[in-house]
Amino acid sequence: MTDLVFPPSFLWGAATAAHQVEGDNASSDWWEWEQRPDTPCVDRSGVACDHYRRYPEDVATLATLGLNTYRYSVEWARVEPVEGSIARVELEHYVRMTDAVLGAGLTPMVTLNHFTLPNWVARRGGWMDPATPALFARYCDVVVRALGDRVDWYCTINEPGVVAFGGYLGALGFPPGTHGASSWERAIAGLVKGQRLSRAAVKNARPSARAGATHSMQAWEPDAGSRPLVEYLRRLNEDVFLEASEADDFIGVQTYTRVPVHLGEPARTILRLALRSRRLMRLAAPPVLIRQAKDPAAGAAKGARLTQMGYEFAPEAVAATIRRVAELLPGRDIIVTEHGVATDDDAERVEFIDRGLAAIHGTIGDGLPVRGYVHWSAFDNFEWARGYSMRFGLVGVDRTTLERTVRPSARHLGAIARAGRLAPWRAQADGSAAAG
Ligand code: BGC
Repeated sequence: MTDLVFPPSFLWGAATAAHQVEGDNASSDWWEWEQRPDTPCVDRSGVACDHYRRYPEDVATLATLGLNTYRYSVEWARVEPVEGSIARVELEHYVRMTDAVLGAGLTPMVTLNHFTLPNWVARRGGWMDPATPALFARYCDVVVRALGDRVDWYCTINEPGVVAFGGYLGALGFPPGTHGASSWERAIAGLVKGQRLSRAAVKNARPSARAGATHSMQAWEPDAGSRPLVEYLRRLNEDVFLEASEADDFIGVQTYTRVPVHLGEPARTILRLALRSRRLMRLAAPPVLIRQAKDPAAGAAKGARLTQMGYEFAPEAVAATIRRVAELLPGRDIIVTEHGVATDDDAERVEFIDRGLAAIHGTIGDGLPVRGYVHWSAFDNFEWARGYSMRFGLVGVDRTTLERTVRPSARHLGAIARAGRLAPWRAQADGSAAAG
C-alpha cells in the first residue's frame, strides 16, 4: 500500500484561542462569568497556560515539531477594553507575537473572535445588541491594519452557531446564559451580520488576505423520526452561518464527533405536532435541544467509545462535514480549522489524527478543495465551562507548574506535516493505529 500523500502547499497546524491559553483575560465577559457565584463553569480560567507571556517558547515548540501553521486569536477585550479606546500596547503585543510566529517559520492564522466579548459589549446585550456587528467590524479593521502584511489568513468569527446555542439558548453554560428561542434568534441575527461585516472589514483593510468564518459542524445521523428536529437545529446552528459564509475565501470546518439522534417518546410526538407551526416549534424544540446537549452520551450508539467530553470518539466524522460544505458551497476552499480529542491516553490522540487524516485524504482524492488541517489543540487549556480536566493538547500543560510536555501525538503530527504524507497502515478504521 502506498502512503497517503497530501498536496504540497497544505497547511499543517495547531490551534489555540486567547481566553483558553493566555491567562488573566480580565476585561472579558467569560472572566466575569467564571467569577459569578452561580457560574456553571467548573474552573476559573485564571492564569490559563500563561501563553500571553510564554508565547515565544510555545511558538518555537510548534515550529520545531514540523508544523507550518499556528492558528491563534487576538482578544477583543484586551485590544478595546473600554468602548472606543484602543489599547496600543496590546496591539503591539499581538504584532510582536505574530513576528515570533513568522520568525519561527510558521504561517499565522489569526482568529478575530473566539467566543469572548469585551465586558462593555456583553453589558449592552452582546450579540443580541444590533450595534455589536458594526462595533466588531471596527475592531477587526484596527487589528488587521496593525498586523499589516504579516497575516494572510483571518478567521472572522469562530463557531457562531455554538456561541448562539451555547450562550443565548443557554445549552452549554456559556455567557450570557439567556434561554429561549427569542434570545437565540436575536443572537443568530447578530452573529450572521457580524460575519458579513467582519469579512468586509478584513478585505477592506487588506484585500489580499483570505477571510472566512470557522464553523462547528456535526455529522448528524438522525433516525427517520428525529430527522425533522435535526433539520430544524442544523438550519439554525450551521446552515444560516454557512449561508453567511457564501462570499468567504475559505470555509473553516470544525468537527469533533458524529451525533446519532434517536428521540424517544414523548419528544417525537410533541415535535411532530410542533412542526406544523413555526411558533410551536420555537416553544417545543429548545428544551429538547438543551437536554440533548447536556447529555451527549445519551445519543451515542450503545457501547460506543466516548471521549472525555462525553460524546463519541469519531475521527472520520470530519469527512461527512467536509462533503456537506462542498455540496452547499461548491468549489470553495475548505480548511479543517479544528479537529481533535479530549483524552488522557495520548495513543488515542494519535489514532484520532491518523483516522481523521485518512478520511480527509479521501475527500481530497474525490477532488474536494481541502487546503489544510489544523489540530485542536496545541496545548491543554481552559475548556470553557468544562474547565481544565478536558485534555485536548498535543502538548501537555501541568496545572501546578505550567510546565509543558510535548506528547508523542505532537511529534507524530509534526512528522506527518514535515513529510506531507501518512502511512496508510496507521489509519485503519478498526482503531488499530499504533502510537508513534
Ligand atoms: C472551540 C474550542 C473548544 C473545542 C473543543 C470548539 O468548539 O472552538 O474553543 O475548545 O471546540 O471543545
